[in-house]
Amino acid sequence: MGFKRKHLIGLEDATPEEIETYLNTAESFKSIFDRKIKKVPALRGRTVINLFFENSTRTRTSFELAAKRLSADVINFSVSTSSVSKGETLIDTAKTIEALESDMIVVRHSCSGVPLLLTKTLKSGIVNAGDGMHEHPTQGLLDLFTIREKKKKIKGLKIVMVGDIAHSRVARSNIYGMTKMGADLTLVAPPTLLPKDIENLGVKVDHDLRKAVKGADVVYMLRIQLERQKRNLFPSIREFSTLYGMDEDKLKLANKDAIVMHPGPMNRGVEISSEVADSEQSVICEQVTNGIAVRMAVLYLLAGGETNEIASLSGQGN
Ligand code: CP
Repeated sequence: MGFKRKHLIGLEDATPEEIETYLNTAESFKSIFDRKIKKVPALRGRTVINLFFENSTRTRTSFELAAKRLSADVINFSVSTSSVSKGETLIDTAKTIEALESDMIVVRHSCSGVPLLLTKTLKSGIVNAGDGMHEHPTQGLLDLFTIREKKKKIKGLKIVMVGDIAHSRVARSNIYGMTKMGADLTLVAPPTLLPKDIENLGVKVDHDLRKAVKGADVVYMLRIQLERQKRNLFPSIREFSTLYGMDEDKLKLANKDAIVMHPGPMNRGVEISSEVADSEQSVICEQVTNGIAVRMAVLYLLAGGETNEIASLSGQGN
């Protein structure tokens, strides 16, 4: 039976079964990464358009590679060289893009709600590649995938997520995803970087990183989102780093086999030391690689692909 959804806007309304399907499908696609020809004809003849109104290194290239590995035609729309700079509205730009006969549009925008708005205006499938402070669902899925791959489970794991929770769309998607999959999630930040009543989402809150990290299986560090902060929310970067930055000393308090994660881009020496970022416990580069498999799964499933057909597709590399 086909996947029920055509759009991926967030993990807030995803069921644990849907998340499991994304992860299992990504696992099947990852198995072709070791092959000489890393391509399957799953989306041959379909057009995927990357519509990024905000900068990106990882997500845009990852979606492009994912679509190409599924044999789709891909167009990368660059806002800086488009008519957006001449005053064209978002909706007119999106309708123009769709007139190029897109099947799926991957959109990143600094305003929360833009991907949802596009689902109401366009016929294409819409994938949220990060909208303002709202959600970044494919980042959440690739993080869950990486945790499951490394730890062989998600349920019951002690995860600490540290840093600028309040301004992070990555944090929001991961909070929904990790709690739905049964993780024991603690958010660690100064009170000014935590949304009010966040405990209502089924997480614990701590302001003391040294206490919270004890016995952790997964340590997830977040970047300080200075571009989204409207006023000073902590005295200095130096103080933040001392109290909430992950260094070798604090990491020793976690489980010996704890993994360290970061969605990127990293600010070395602020939320994470170079020693930790480059340590054997760090899975930061693996997160990026896994992002390709997860985005292949998302594009494939939203386009109506069947999970039980992937094995036969894998034999048809082109
Ligand atoms: N994690 C993430 O969204 O990175 P980019 O901003 O480089 O896409």
